This record gives sequence, structure tokens and C-alpha cells, in this order.
Amino acid sequence: MELVRAKTAGFCFGVKRAVRLAEEAASYGPCACLGPLIHNDDVVRRLESIGVRTVSTVRELRPGETVIIRSHGIGRDEYEELRRLGLNIIDATCPDVARIHRLVEEQSAEGRKIVIIGERRHPEVAAVQGWCDDSTVLENPEEVETWLSENPEMTDFPICVVSQTTGERKNFEISVKILKKQCTNAKIFDTICNTTSNRQREAREIASKADAMIVIGGRHSANTAKLALVCRECCGRVLLIENASQLDRRELEGAKVVGVTAGASTPEWIIKEVNRMMSDEVKAVETAEEETKAVETVEPVAVETVEPVAEETAEPAVEETPAAAAQQDAPEAEASFEELLERSIKTLHTGEKVRGVVASITQTEISVDLGAKQSGYIPISEFTDEPGVNVADIIKVGDEIEAYVMRVNDVDGVVMLSKKRLDSVKNWDSIVEARTSRAVVEGNVIEENKGGIVVNVKGIHVFVPASQSGLPKEAPMSELLHHKVKLRITEVNQPRKRVVGSIRAVAYEERKARAEATWNEIEVGKHYHGVVKSLTSYGAFVDIGGVDGMVHVSELSWKRIHQPSEVLKVGDEIDVYVISFDKDNRKISLGYKDPNENPWVKFTTAYPEGSVADVRIVKLMTFGAFAEIIPGVDGLIHISQIADRRIGKPEDVLSEGEVVKAKIIKIDNENKKVSLSIRALAEPAAPVSQPEPKEAEPDDEPAVVYDTENPPAPEDLPQE
Ligand code: F3S
Repeated sequence: MELVRAKTAGFCFGVKRAVRLAEEAASYGPCACLGPLIHNDDVVRRLESIGVRTVSTVRELRPGETVIIRSHGIGRDEYEELRRLGLNIIDATCPDVARIHRLVEEQSAEGRKIVIIGERRHPEVAAVQGWCDDSTVLENPEEVETWLSENPEMTDFPICVVSQTTGERKNFEISVKILKKQCTNAKIFDTICNTTSNRQREAREIASKADAMIVIGGRHSANTAKLALVCRECCGRVLLIENASQLDRRELEGAKVVGVTAGASTPEWIIKEVNRMMSDEVKAVETAEEETKAVETVEPVAVETVEPVAEETAEPAVEETPAAAAQQDAPEAEASFEELLERSIKTLHTGEKVRGVVASITQTEISVDLGAKQSGYIPISEFTDEPGVNVADIIKVGDEIEAYVMRVNDVDGVVMLSKKRLDSVKNWDSIVEARTSRAVVEGNVIEENKGGIVVNVKGIHVFVPASQSGLPKEAPMSELLHHKVKLRITEVNQPRKRVVGSIRAVAYEERKARAEATWNEIEVGKHYHGVVKSLTSYGAFVDIGGVDGMVHVSELSWKRIHQPSEVLKVGDEIDVYVISFDKDNRKISLGYKDPNENPWVKFTTAYPEGSVADVRIVKLMTFGAFAEIIPGVDGLIHISQIADRRIGKPEDVLSEGEVVKAKIIKIDNENKKVSLSIRALAEPAAPVSQPEPKEAEPDDEPAVVYDTENPPAPEDLPQE
């Protein structure tokens, strides 16, 4: 006995996807499926065991539960209700079914009545009706005839005809033929799923050569029932079983060739179990490899020629997509059914670039409608390489998207796509172009390693050696981690996928350009906001835009300081102004002290000669006392001006820190010296027999802007 297993047996893409999404949902937390996920009790029980409850209505859902929409889909109102309830929705509607929802919604909005050729009680058909304003379901050609005779106005009325995805092709074709003959304004869409057509075609092919056919599938599965029907048309012995336990080998007695196929809801493990049982009879089929071998014995299934529906030029043709339907009047729309079918089964190849429309987005994948009955999906991991990207921020349902074909499942007509790889190819081109044109590119620093850092430039990893990072030698590379940087591509080795870049080159060129601009615009008195680059004992170097100017230590503070570090540190951002510059020698002298804060100006404005001030004694010397008039301006009270009598030393009368009233008796603007006198404020005293104090001489009384910690050298001081 020879055992022939159909390649198309078992889960279709839509069911496989729904089961996977349900398993994933269960791993995230409590979830429930609205209606049994698939028409297979064994699978539903297994899902229940991992936490996927089955509920019949929205009301049965529990708060916080994730709701799974099965591959049959649901109507628009139900969908809206789930949204309103704020539930977390996992939409496992098969992309082929979702495409019908969009199609009928669109056609309905255009005022067409939707005619669905399918089973009235099938959940998929009910869901499709939920997306139409006005629809009717016709199960077979007889019902089509009756409906037309009862509704003669429909012959002129705009209608749109679709099929249940798992509908039987012949049933649809005959129904369409009748409708086309009588209805003058009909748009017809062949929405039968390729998977179903292929499965039925292959089953027919095997059944026509087999002595017996085993069809495995759920009793409630319309898809399986139709499969058995197709087999019965070519084979006299068809066994319809749900699992291996129902297989009665006696019914296969005498059969030399036994074919095995299974409905779209039949999991692989049930098919394998049946095969194992059969292996008792067929020694050749013992292991999984041998099962594969058995599959290979099936000759490639030839695409069955669908009999063309009799054409009348005035009748509308069967179309695949709304876009095609829109071209109904064009000569192309009059192509034969056969041609259109052929066109719909366009072959895609791995590595091909395709364009489609985003049909749905889940936590794990993006479904893409590729038109012409082909569905694609992009696993989230194949969407982008950009770290921390939220897919929903980039695309939404209905957006056009381009991607690479990664893998084509000929059986299901489902295509695995990658946007990231397409981007990567495009980005490689732009990297090579940037290398040639020396253009500056931008990227994020994603990694630090021994030799340097790695920058992600549009998904391409560019290595930047430490010496080209633009950082000082001792600075840690980690400083740049997660920062956006500009760089120039210096080396591209495409075969080895190695790209090298330089941040330093860009920084150098930017600095050079800034320097040029600064030199072109510089003028005395111009203010700049700069950064302190380095400090020396005599001043601070400040970057004012690609050029470093020097602030002399004397220009750093109104107070007397010894080191620039008393006022500034490297990295400080400060405002400076140009005191002078020398373009030829590229030298700029900068000021930092605010002229408005000049204490001498403040002092002379507030205190004219002859005025009285409260002064604080800051230093006592043998020749007198220094007193602070305002911060930054001190004056000298000569010993002869401390009292109206002769004193031995200033501390006989004054002490440091004491505040006394003193008269400003002389201001030397040129040398910035102030002479003070306490004696001048004293009541005239009785004449004493001591010489009149000597009139203060400017040179004797150097009232100075004085640093109390650093009194003038004795030789600079006035002597009495
Ligand atoms: Fe979808 Fe076709 Fe299966 S419509 S659920 S892939 S049979």
C-alpha cells in the first residue's frame, strides 16, 4: 500500500497565525477568545489548558482580560464595542478575511448591495455582513436564481458580489455566471482563499489516483466538509475522521493507494498520529522523514484550469481588488475569469521588493495586504533595527509599506517580509554614497568597545576608532554612549560589512568653518558667549567660536586675584568681549570683568570729594589705616588724620573691622587713590602744643583699590 499525504494538509496560514497569537496572548496574562478559535475541539481544549478561555459574547469577558478575535473576524459594531470597553484586543482575523471586510465596507459606502456567496450560518459570513449596510447571503446557484426572481429590481441595482473565503469554487463560479447574466451593474470579487483552492485542487488530484481517501478535520468545519465533498467526486472510498481514534483500518482493506488530506483547522500532531497508525499497514511510512518522503512522491500539483464563465461583453468581469474594480469599464476589466485567476496567483520570489498596505498591527507582527490574494506579514523583529522604536508611532493600518520578501509559502500564498532588510539595503547604498560624496551622516552611539565606539547610522553599524571620536585622550568613550553624533564615512568594506567613520573629521571641519566666520566678523567691543578651554598662570583661554581668545588674569576680576582658577574652571561658559585682536598673528585679547561693575566708577559716582562715608577698617599699618569705602575701593587714613591729637600708632585709636565715619578729602582719579580723614570730622579741639598735621600729599596718601590681603610694598607706601 502506498500512502500519499497532501502537502496542503493541515493548518492554513490564517489558522496558524491565530493559534500563535493566542498562545502568545496567554503568555502575557488572562485572555479569552470570542468564539472557538478554530473548528477543532482538540486544539480549543489545548488552548484552554494554557489559559485561553472561549466565550460566546462580549458580556462574558472579564475585566483586565485580553480578548482574541478569531480568524473568522467579527463585525464592525462588535469591534467598536470592544474598543469602547477599552479591552486589550488581539486581532487574529485572517488577513484574507480582513481584506473582505475592507472591500465590502468600501463598496457598501458607495451604495452597493453586498451579495455574499457562502453559508448563512458561518461565523465568517456573519462577520462580513457586519461590515455592510445592506447585504444578502446566497448559499448556492439555486438560491441565486430564486433571489433574482423575487427581487427583479436587482437586475439594475448596483451590487457587489464576494465569496466566503472557504467557499467551493464551482459553486461560486456558477452563481457568478447567473448573476452576470442578469445583473447589469454588478461588481464581482473572487475572494476565495488561495489556500482553500489549492487544498481542494490537490485533494482532487490525489483522490483521482487513490483507492481510498482519508480526510481529517472537525465535524463542524465547513472547510473539511467541502474537502470531503471534492474527494468524493473522484474517489469512491472517502473516510472523514476527526482524529486517529476514529480511523477504522478495515475500511481501507484492499486499497493500494491511500491519500491523506486535512482541513485548515487540523493540527499537525493529529495528522501525524493518523500517519503513525497507517504505518502499521504501510511499513514504508515509519518516521517523520519517511512521511516527508511520502509527501515528495506527490507530483507537483498542476493548477487546475477553471472553466471560463461564459462572457458577454456587457457583463462585468470578476475582479480581485477594489482598485481593479474601479477599472470596470476599461477593456482590461473584460478579461476572462481564467486570465484574472491566473493573474491573481502571481508568484513572488525571495529577495523581491514588494509594496502593500498595512492591514493590522499586533504585538508581534504587521500584516500586509499585498493584493492579488496574497498576504504578507512582517515580524516585529524584521521591522526596524532602531532601538526603542514604537511601531505604532511609525506606521498605522492603511499605510503603504515597502518590504523585502524573505520567504514564500507556496501552499498558503503567505509571504514573510522584512522592512528592516530593505531599509538596510537602501541604507547601505546611502552609506556608500556618503563615502563617495564625503557627506556628513548622523547616528546614535550604541556601543563602546576596546578600540572605540559603534554608531548606528540608519541601521548600519559604523565603527569609530577612539582616535577619531573627537574626545581628548584620557576621556572615557562612554561619555558618547546614547548620544547623537555627526560623522564622516572614511571606509566601506561591503563584503565584510565593515564601515569606519570619523567624528573628529566633522568636528575639525566645523571648527574651521566657525573660526573663519569668527575672524570675518570680529571687532573690538563685540561680545561672545564662550567656553573656557584651558587655564594658565597668566590667564584663561576661551573658545569664542572656533577660535580661542585669552583673558588676562587682570581682566578676570575687579578684585585682585593670583590665579585664573580663583574665578574660572575649564568648561565654564562665560560672556566675554573683545579688547583687541591681531588678525595676522591670530591673537585675540578678551575681557571678562563687567565694566558696569567697575567699583571705581561706582565710588566716584556716589562719593565726591568732601563727602562723608561709613568706612570699615581693614588693615592697620604703622603709617595709617586702610579702610574699605565700598567693596573694591579702599582709602588710606594717614596716621595724622586718625585723631585730632597726636597718636603713637593707629591701633591706639582704631581696630580692624571697626566701622567709622570718615571724610573723603582727596580723590586721585589717575592713580585711583583716595585719602580719608577722621580728624576732619572732629570738633575743633583746643590748640595743642604739637605741630599741625601735615597736609596730606597725594603721594603720601595713596588711597587705593586695595587688596587687604596683599598690602602694598613698604617702599610704595606713604611715609609721614
Ligand atoms: Fe485565512 Fe484562508 Fe485560512 S482565509 S483562515 S488562510 S483558509
